[in-house]
Amino acid sequence: MELIFDRVTKQYKEKIAVDRVSLSLTQGVYGLLGANGAGKTTLMRLMCGVLRPDSGEILYNGTKVEEEAYRDILGYLPQQFGYYPDFSAMDFLMYLGSLKGMPKKRASEKSRELLELAGLSHVAKKKIKTFSGGMKQRLGIAQSLLNNPEVLVLDEPTAGLDPKERVKFRNIVSKLGNDRIVLLSTHIVSDVEHIADVILLMKDGAIIHKGSLEEIIQAIEGKVWECTVDSHAAERLMGQYPALNVREEKEGTFLRLVCGEKPAEHAVQAAATLEDLYLYYFSGEGQM
Ligand SMILES: Nc1ncnc2c1ncn2[C@@H]1O[C@H](COP(=O)(O)OP(=O)(O)O)[C@@H](O)[C@H]1O
Ligand SMILES: [Mg+2]
Repeated sequence: MELIFDRVTKQYKEKIAVDRVSLSLTQGVYGLLGANGAGKTTLMRLMCGVLRPDSGEILYNGTKVEEEAYRDILGYLPQQFGYYPDFSAMDFLMYLGSLKGMPKKRASEKSRELLELAGLSHVAKKKIKTFSGGMKQRLGIAQSLLNNPEVLVLDEPTAGLDPKERVKFRNIVSKLGNDRIVLLSTHIVSDVEHIADVILLMKDGAIIHKGSLEEIIQAIEGKVWECTVDSHAAERLMGQYPALNVREEKEGTFLRLVCGEKPAEHAVQAAATLEDLYLYYFSGEGQM
């Protein structure tokens, strides 16, 4: 299985939301990481055939994603997902199954299986309006899997989840990449750090880095420094280099900086993390 973006561009009036993106996705979990407004949702809607590119094309196994047949192998959890608050979880999945033209028996077997996977079996008959944010999101994943999709697109599925729910969610998603293409967007570094086989860093409509965690961190490896200096020096250094962390301590101001050379006499090199890289590219922008 291979999904290809070939010089895909999408513009809203003056705003270029997706800017000549070329990408090839094969089996595995891809983490699309970027600040709010980077173009993640637009890229995903293009990938789902909900939106048409202004130029370029998106092909799955050689066929355009606009084709009807692509719907059958696609699973999609939109950023804003509409639930029916008075439906039970089971009724909701059965209803969506019938919309997808699934025979009743298969829909009910599949719904049960997916509620199990999502850890919702015990609340299958409870109304959705009684669910927590995390339970709703897990139901969202369940519905996206009804047709056992080869391509699964999850747009900010962990938004609004507490850390515990987040971990539950990640565990579900990491299993799903074994036999399909999973693309998951987030603006939270830790969501992709552990489950993504490949990280795509998106900024201003473009994919600025693509690779494994190790590969992607290479961009700033050897350039992360830590030092504790007096307030004058701290101010000067922060004006000169991107700061990853600033903390007032008894001995002075602790700084973590990205810098090509040793920024201060007593500075020591630190191992770079994905969060460093993210802050380096996105500091001063939107929500982090
Ligand atoms: N329907 C729209 N009309 C006009 N501008 C839009 C529309 N949707 C998104 N945008 C703009 O396109 C850019 C990318 O948005 P989006 O794809 O939602 O990014 P993300 O999902 O990364 O937050 C943003 O600047 C946003 O304001
Ligand atoms: Mg979005």
